[in-house]
Amino acid sequence: MSNATSHQPGMNGVGRQRAMLRPRYAQIVGWGTALPERIVTNDDLARLVDTSDDWIRSRTGIQERRMATSPKESTATLAIQAAREALRVADVPASSLDVVICATTSPEYLCPSTACLVQNALGAPRAGAFDLNAACSGFVYGLSVARSLVLSGDADYVLVVGAETLTRFLDWTDRNTCILFGDGAGAVLVAASHEPGGILSCVLGSDGSGSDLLMVPAGGSAHPPTMETVANRMHMLRMDGKAVFRFAVQAMADGTRDAVAKAGLSLAEVDLVIPHQANVRIIQSSVVKQLKIPEQKVFVNLERYGNTSAASIPIALCEAIEAGRVRPGQNLVLAGFGAGLTWAATAIHWCAPVERTPAPWWKDAQREAGYQLASARSTWRRLARRAYADVMGPADAPTVRGRLRTAIDAGRSAWQTHKPSSRR
Ligand code: UT7
Repeated sequence: MSNATSHQPGMNGVGRQRAMLRPRYAQIVGWGTALPERIVTNDDLARLVDTSDDWIRSRTGIQERRMATSPKESTATLAIQAAREALRVADVPASSLDVVICATTSPEYLCPSTACLVQNALGAPRAGAFDLNAACSGFVYGLSVARSLVLSGDADYVLVVGAETLTRFLDWTDRNTCILFGDGAGAVLVAASHEPGGILSCVLGSDGSGSDLLMVPAGGSAHPPTMETVANRMHMLRMDGKAVFRFAVQAMADGTRDAVAKAGLSLAEVDLVIPHQANVRIIQSSVVKQLKIPEQKVFVNLERYGNTSAASIPIALCEAIEAGRVRPGQNLVLAGFGAGLTWAATAIHWCAPVERTPAPWWKDAQREAGYQLASARSTWRRLARRAYADVMGPADAPTVRGRLRTAIDAGRSAWQTHKPSSRR
């Protein structure tokens, strides 16, 4: 467990109340990514649509992207892999999680949430879980929610994941969109801490008048799936690139400026900006030209991954840490924009140590065993639920099966009332 965290298992009520009176801060203490293996280059795309490596590089900065081509790779599997890595880096067990937030525009299902699948795969029995859709701004929106949960005392550990497989919603005949996006996931663990710093400020914005500029028209209640919606490619992403570009340049500059001011910092005090990785020209026009933040202070990795939407900022954050660009004591800004239209930015005073000491082999083995156990427990619960439904008759039915069900339900409800609470 991170020594920065206030979470102390076994702390009694008085001790916990005292700890709650001290100022709380929301620190990022763990981070991880997951990327599909398949690399798709610009030349690969030039074989599909009328485009070229030269056009894509010069207009966007993208050289290649990752694509989830294996049936085993999906938004949930990538999210789970990134989340496990974040917990490993933080050295926090999944059982400590209070909330799992998954920011995604390409969820595993319309319902249930991808976050619930992550919660189940991690074996986090105490955690609430929900998805958050703010498109490419979603990860920063998630950080804002996590910070609020931590500062209010409602949660000690919140896992925030940004995960996408947007290539599964692309029109591979539309060169305006199919060249831009890639798949991947990034996750961070936000923990309560008494060490001043962490997530200092968050700015969230939206302008629904631009909802038509970037959208998947069908699949929701406006246009449920029909043969017609499929034939008209309405389940695929459509975009007015130029309009989104104009909005993005302003939104990213304004968001960054506002988050920095709200944190009581000046732009000169910012050590590193990690922007949403959509187009290098957007980053240059907004953060570099408008805000005059030197290029060396801006992290860019979109040449390798393209736009991974809600996953782009956490993936870039992890790579910036790996590259030695993030150090304790630095001020970071994460800024994004996306469909909605939405924008979001956060200023962070980084505190967590970034050097990785390799964990002893038994820790990894223990962690892996925990995940296997979580999987076995999940299967068992599913089977037990099915067996219960199959074997038992309707409640209160005047049969043996009906009476048995009534008795079991009564026993279960008594246990729920009297069991020692697993939550605070
Ligand atoms: O997370 C948010 C997601 N979305 C974004 O961030 C998108 C923001 N927008 C952009 O990044 C840019 O607008 C694009 C990269 C999408 C397009 O760049 P652009 O400089 O705005 O190009 P354009 O749309 O003005 O198109 C210029 C020309 C057009 O040809 P004509 O009409 O001048 O003959 C397009 O048809 O380039 C053509 N074009 C292409 N040519 C080769 C558009 N896409 C392509 C392509 N390959 N892939």
